[in-house]
Amino acid sequence: MKILITGGAGFIGSHVVRLFVNKYPEYEIFNLDALTYAGNLENLVDIEDRSNYHFIKADINNILEINSLFEKYKFDKVIHLAAESHVDRSIKDPLAFVKTNVIGTMNLLNAAKDHWSKDYKNNLFYHISTDEVYGTLGETGLFTESTSYDPNSPYSASKASSDHFVRAYGETYDLPYIITNCSNNYGPNQFPEKLIPLFINNIIDNINLPVYGDGKYTRDWLYVIDHAVAIDLAFHNGKLKSTYNIGGFNEWQNIDLVKLLCDIMDVKLGRDKGTSEKLITYIKDRPGHDKRYAIDATKINKELGWKPSVTFEEGLEKTIDWYLNNKKWLDNVTSGDYQKYYNEQY
Ligand code: NAD
Ligand code: DAU
Repeated sequence: MKILITGGAGFIGSHVVRLFVNKYPEYEIFNLDALTYAGNLENLVDIEDRSNYHFIKADINNILEINSLFEKYKFDKVIHLAAESHVDRSIKDPLAFVKTNVIGTMNLLNAAKDHWSKDYKNNLFYHISTDEVYGTLGETGLFTESTSYDPNSPYSASKASSDHFVRAYGETYDLPYIITNCSNNYGPNQFPEKLIPLFINNIIDNINLPVYGDGKYTRDWLYVIDHAVAIDLAFHNGKLKSTYNIGGFNEWQNIDLVKLLCDIMDVKLGRDKGTSEKLITYIKDRPGHDKRYAIDATKINKELGWKPSVTFEEGLEKTIDWYLNNKKWLDNVTSGDYQKYYNEQY
């Protein structure tokens, strides 16, 4: 089986690529990635020489290139993760999100539709999406697979749009698809623009921790390897033309999470308790900031037997240890354009 994984040099994609390359030596894995600021082949050095792994540097916005790659390699299945993924960047440059997340997804859908035989025997278009398409929750309730889409940021609107096109290709052209909508991931190799790695990096360097608004926003956190395992299960056993929600059963208000992170970092760095908390700085809120996300992952649990394998405390400790042990990775990704981004954003 030839599997095209897009965005495999990014955070979640690299964990998915590693899992598939290691677990399925009989599959050929093609990692297609444009290597934007968020893509980093250092994430995959441990598997880059494996005979069932191939890297293709390409942009999903380039339809001619995508078509010729489908022609050349005859991919059987697609796991599509490539995207612009950061909400704050989508507020600054929404069109970049429409290009990659909507048009790029359309290019892949069209290439799959045009190159696969009409009975789509042994084909699958697996689209990786987010819980943000559902908008925001109040104090109570959970997002289920039947919650209406109600996206609030340019990022989530672009992801919602791509989800709709995937579903529409299933209805209109019979394209076999699966969509999974996952909550906030954390873990090794996450670019330090997202809350947890950004704050780990700032604590190491004694830089302020910029908490948006009152800090009382809630996210449902999932360890990235548990997401990769869920993707493996849905890819192999998921019902075609259906969607699954994936979440951590793990809601945290940002400020409580940040305080926990500060406490663990103080211990790891041998600093006095309370040192990192002093770095917390409340700053102007993110526009359109969704108050609360929380996933009901009952369907994937019941149908596919998936549940998270690590507690938040375990996952956070593993994550912090990874960043402390991989300072070179952190230094590499925070050199160059990162400073410019940071100064403009904060
Ligand atoms: P990321 O930003 O870390 O990685 C994205 C990858 O896509 C990078 O390697 C980048 O180089 C590549 N890419 C971007 N534009 C491209 C283009 N035009 N052509 C080819 N490659 C391109 O993102 P992530 O956090 O790993 O997210 C992966 C996917 O999972 C995204 O679709 C995202 O919407 C979704 N998702 C993320 C989370 C999360 O918490 N991070 C949660 C749920 C869903
Ligand atoms: O829910 C899934 C989504 O989670 C994914 O689809 C996105 O790709 C991913 O980026 C993530 O989106 P969030 O906006 O929830 O993640 P982020 O890490 O940017 O922010 C988490 C929370 O922390 C959010 O309430 C905003 C807040 N925050 C974030 C940053 C970067 C701060 O208070 N300060 C910050 O500097």
